[in-house]
Amino acid sequence: MTGDELREKYLIFFEQKGHKRIESSSLIPHGDPTLLLTSAGMVQFKPYFTGEAVPPSPRLASCQKCFRTTDIGSVGNFKHLTFFEMLGNFSIGDYFKKEAISWAWEFVLDWLKIPKEKLWITIFLDDDEASRYWREIGVSAERIVRCGEKDNFWGPAGETGPCGPCSEIHYDFGEQHSCGPDCSPSCGCGRFLEIWNLVFTEYYQDAQKKRTPLPRKNIDTGMGLERTATVIQGKRSFYDTDLFAPIIQRVSQLTGRKYGDNEKADRAMRIVAEHGRAVVFLIA
Ligand code: ALA
Repeated sequence: MTGDELREKYLIFFEQKGHKRIESSSLIPHGDPTLLLTSAGMVQFKPYFTGEAVPPSPRLASCQKCFRTTDIGSVGNFKHLTFFEMLGNFSIGDYFKKEAISWAWEFVLDWLKIPKEKLWITIFLDDDEASRYWREIGVSAERIVRCGEKDNFWGPAGETGPCGPCSEIHYDFGEQHSCGPDCSPSCGCGRFLEIWNLVFTEYYQDAQKKRTPLPRKNIDTGMGLERTATVIQGKRSFYDTDLFAPIIQRVSQLTGRKYGDNEKADRAMRIVAEHGRAVVFLIA
């Protein structure tokens, strides 16, 4: 499945679940002084979550162009990009945890055909409700890992805004990539790759970091297009997927170096490819 096919499949799946397809907004957020760049799919929907604007439908789906300057130092590794595309389904006061969890599972297992044995789930520490829904659709207890605020509480994007506890789906590249007996999906060693984050957006966080309940409970999800393409194309990094391979090839032509010959040069080539792609989208 190509990256283009994955993007379309996701949007069709959620259209079939009653979602309205929304175009990606610009990388430069409109009317949002809290953010320099669009860093997540939910950014253009913030006024819907807070109740300041009425959405065109309570169920929305998009593929959003995103830019994360926070990850710039990690570029060249197999996990982080500055520019990436985020697939997302959103509920504005409509469905909540149960549907978000069961639809994510249905899409990953039935539409993407990712084997269940390769998947792990993380949930926020005391989120027994999320745990129950994952268990109900057949995830075993030992595959559900509880993590704290750092890993499983998302937002706000910027200083203030909507946020909430979250639950993530991780792909396991296998024990041969493990860093040791304590390796888990929250570990950064490279064995696990988070592919989808389901945020249960219940709170508004103000500049003093005080959280108050939003008018309604919402869903904000983000599936990384490049990461998921890596998994379904059976690759180890997004630079080997069809979304990046032609760019790496061009870098190779221009520099006269073969990708795969030397790890130091390979990393440099990945950085050139990533930054080249990112800058093109920023300029556009
Ligand atoms: N807004 C969530 C994220 O960026 C889905 O991970």
